[in-house]
Amino acid sequence: MRIAVVGAGYVGLASALAWSHLGHDVRVLERDARRVGALRRHDDPLGEPLVPELLDASDLLVTSDASEAFARADMVAVAVGTPQTHGGRADLSALDAACATIAQAARPGTVVVRSTVPVGTADRLQRDVLHRSAVVSNPEFLREGRAIADMLRPDRVLAGGEGGQRDLIEALYAPILGQSFTPVAELRPDLTPRALVWTDRRSAELAKYAANAFLATKLSFVNELANVAATTGSDIRAVIEVLRLDPRIGEAFLRPGLGWGGSCFPKDTRALEALAMDRGYDFNILRAVIEQNRRQLDRFVALIEGELGARRDVRIALLGLAFKSGTADCRESPAVALAQRLVERGWSVRAYDPAVRERPCELPAAVALCDDIRDAALGADAIVIATEWEAFARDLTALREVTRDDLLFDGRCLVDPGDAAAAGFRYFGICPATRH
Ligand SMILES: NC(=O)c1ccc[n+]([C@@H]2O[C@H](COP(=O)([O-])OP(=O)(O)OC[C@H]3O[C@@H](n4cnc5c(N)ncnc54)[C@H](O)[C@@H]3O)[C@@H](O)[C@H]2O)c1
Repeated sequence: MRIAVVGAGYVGLASALAWSHLGHDVRVLERDARRVGALRRHDDPLGEPLVPELLDASDLLVTSDASEAFARADMVAVAVGTPQTHGGRADLSALDAACATIAQAARPGTVVVRSTVPVGTADRLQRDVLHRSAVVSNPEFLREGRAIADMLRPDRVLAGGEGGQRDLIEALYAPILGQSFTPVAELRPDLTPRALVWTDRRSAELAKYAANAFLATKLSFVNELANVAATTGSDIRAVIEVLRLDPRIGEAFLRPGLGWGGSCFPKDTRALEALAMDRGYDFNILRAVIEQNRRQLDRFVALIEGELGARRDVRIALLGLAFKSGTADCRESPAVALAQRLVERGWSVRAYDPAVRERPCELPAAVALCDDIRDAALGADAIVIATEWEAFARDLTALREVTRDDLLFDGRCLVDPGDAAAAGFRYFGICPATRH
């Protein structure tokens, strides 16, 4: 199949590389000249595992020229960003611009919407912009840090459109559905084939928002539970273990933390809330989840202030900037928001994240970005863990040897309080040490 992909971000690039690996002829249209240059040099702009291997192995054509990208394409997939507007609704300007370009420069065919969009968007594009093509909604569920693995071994493939398009979508994903793709380095096909959930466009669009909203709800629930446990003298780690062992609840997304962030959950929860509200429905559980998430960071900041508020000349080593481990993505990261709150106190903050090499633009100028953990910790009064990188819990004794004082604030339930004590730290966190 000849495919053009618009947008070379996490979803666009992962889709393009995976489809190319499956044997499709793929071209990518990207408007960011720096990203085009990087991809042409086979540099990975995302820091995603397996992207370098696939870039080297593929003959992907990356261009900012629409006619070159769309030449001979049977299918165009759109994977541009859909950030939030001030009112919380999804900003569809990049998607609308991309679809206008497709209508103008591509020959009629199938247009696959991979971006996360409000219910009714694909119907509108079909009716108003892309009437000569068939529009299919094909939302993506990949996780950053595992983009290629999730593309090739997804939990399910979701697509919605007119019945006549189903065969094409099945052909597009055949080696993924059948788990018969050629291995990529250590990534091999699974033994279990994957299901294609084929539905109408509106259901596909809602299902994508539903998945993210549900996961955010689970995280907010467990954050709330950790806060309750702290007031009841219960051990939240034991409580979670009990939940984890219940298959109806499931193991994932049960680690309390600073709150969820990233490029998807904040905007998608707000977009779903706004979508419901625009149709006269008050999605009050979701509203509470969003509000809980806003308050979660406040609680952690209050915990730090409780210990350090009266001191002057406070030095903080902030461990982690990415919104979660396994990625360099700092968009809507609670760790970056925390950095902002700490410097507002007039404290000196030295930050380190193993994946973050370029300074995130939202990071306050007063925060020093360090090249290694020791550099960040040197002379610090407190270690503050803001992203759950396992490496941060590995050598606490070495950290304590270079810090000035012995406070450790764990915002991600990462460190075992006993290990912290053994290394000479006083432990404070979302999951406080409870010993009866
Ligand atoms: N990042 C994720 O983990 C993830 C997972 C599932 C779904 N999604 C959804 O997929 C969509 C894309 O997300 P992303 O994280 O890949 O975005 P991104 O911001 O990483 O990438 C979008 C890319 O599209 C390019 N672009 C924008 N308009 C363009 C145009 N008109 N022509 C050519 N290029 C254009 C941008 O320059 C950018 O490189 C969003 O709707 C998002 O919600 C993201």
